[in-house]
Amino acid sequence: LTRERYSVRRLPFSVVSEDDLAALERIVPGGVITDPEELEAPNVDWLRTVRGSSKVLLRPRTSQEVAHILRYCHERNLAVSPQGGNTGMVGGSTPVFDEIIVSTALMNQIVSFHNVSGVLVCQAGCVLEELSRYVEERGFVMPLDLGAKGSCHIGGNVATNAGGLRFLRYGSLRGTVLGLEVVLAEGTILNCLTSLRKDNTGYDLKQLFIGSEGTLGVITAVSILCPPKPSAVNVAFLGCPGFAEVLQTFCTCRGMLGEILSAFEFMDAECVKLVGRHLRLACPVQESPFYVLIETSGSGAGHDAEKLSGFLEQVLGSGLVTDGTLAADQRRAKMLWALRERITEALSRDGYVYKYDLSLPLDRLYDLVSDLRARLGLHAKHVVGYGHLGDGNLHLNVTAEAFSPSLLGTLEPYVYEWVARQRGSVSAEHGLGFKKKDVLGYSKPPEALQLMQQLKALLDPKGILNPYKTLPTRT
Ligand code: FAD
Ligand code: MLT
Ligand code: ZN
Repeated sequence: LTRERYSVRRLPFSVVSEDDLAALERIVPGGVITDPEELEAPNVDWLRTVRGSSKVLLRPRTSQEVAHILRYCHERNLAVSPQGGNTGMVGGSTPVFDEIIVSTALMNQIVSFHNVSGVLVCQAGCVLEELSRYVEERGFVMPLDLGAKGSCHIGGNVATNAGGLRFLRYGSLRGTVLGLEVVLAEGTILNCLTSLRKDNTGYDLKQLFIGSEGTLGVITAVSILCPPKPSAVNVAFLGCPGFAEVLQTFCTCRGMLGEILSAFEFMDAECVKLVGRHLRLACPVQESPFYVLIETSGSGAGHDAEKLSGFLEQVLGSGLVTDGTLAADQRRAKMLWALRERITEALSRDGYVYKYDLSLPLDRLYDLVSDLRARLGLHAKHVVGYGHLGDGNLHLNVTAEAFSPSLLGTLEPYVYEWVARQRGSVSAEHGLGFKKKDVLGYSKPPEALQLMQQLKALLDPKGILNPYKTLPTRT
């Protein structure tokens, strides 16, 4: 399926032999999985759009084991596909052919947590939600949060430079990750696992691996700065009559809630219909063309509530918002968040999903959705727009009964050319993985692509790490 749809050819790596299996069993005793049933799920991506045919999955527990695995695979010219929670959106975490899957599932130990600085050091396979729980019990929060928190691993988050729902407040992992331990392609352990906030000694090598999607090394441990847990959190869900009003609401919100604003998400009416239809989540406000979810996080409940009510009075009074609701307790806040976080799940139940994750100038952010809706007409089931408006990040998704080359042909390269004309990004936060690797050129100049190829050749001369991913196929 994957091979034909994307016309990709296997590179001349070795094929895993019985001797290899025996050698790998000595490296990770009990951690070599070859049962076809167990290999079914890790060969397929979360969206069920790509499928590999790996015959081996490895579950190391330590960085040393990962180092031994890579040293062996490098020597034998065996290709490897690193995998965390397998929640990636661009087909980066599943093998394309018979690459060996190296899973971080058993690398789930917390190494240390400092309760003054908030620095957490842990293995790469820790599940984000478990880390959140751990630091929240100690008065801190993880600087990132995403709908996939229950399954994604912190190593996968770093490897994709995941953005998510707290980006607006705490910024990119490029700022909050303080250090990394990475195993390089030929098996060297690169220990840059510092906990320092400031460290200008030479090039910042960890940045190379943040967002490198498993193509430059396997991340084995992460040191990350956790901010203090805000004592007052409020969530509001509002309906807006048009996209211009969504933008005006955002401006007003930044002006009036500035320092306590921690999320500003938006979704269109189609999204809310889909979460209603497929997940039975009811819309808590009057039906509107657009909805926004605003979260504030601060340290003074009274102060925050007062500010928020001033803001709501202003936007309701001026007609920017036509209806709204405020979460009175945590349970209600979770319900409101679910309407936004579970759009991805609702879409995947709607049919085949063509997924675009774009950075665009705010004033043009929704134009592409309206344009495509008109352009596709009845060829698509749904054309929806949602995303991290506060970060200029649109998720444009199109659903159809099944994959169709002609629908794909209508969408691409049209979408990418449209984004390039706006000088936007063809991948704001999901990365390029397997499905988007050939569109990198829409957002980066040829000189940047060449330097990326050179860095790849330097760090992984045999190209065994996640081949067919991130960088365009060389022709
Ligand atoms: P995987 O999917 O297993 O892998 C992703 C990539 O990283 C692959 O290329 C893989 O080879 C590589 N990789 C994994 N672990 C390592 C490692 N230890 N070392 C080196 N390379 C590695 N993404 C966002 O940015 N923002 C969101 O808001 C968001 N929301 C989501 C909501 C849902 C419901 C879902 C299903 C996905 C969402 N995603 C989002 C996408 C996805 O969750 C993120 O990309 C996440 O960071 C992937 O983590 P993972 O552990 O599942 O990685
Ligand atoms: C989100 O913001 O919900 C995620 O990035 C997943 C998606 O794009 O569907
Ligand atoms: Zn997102």
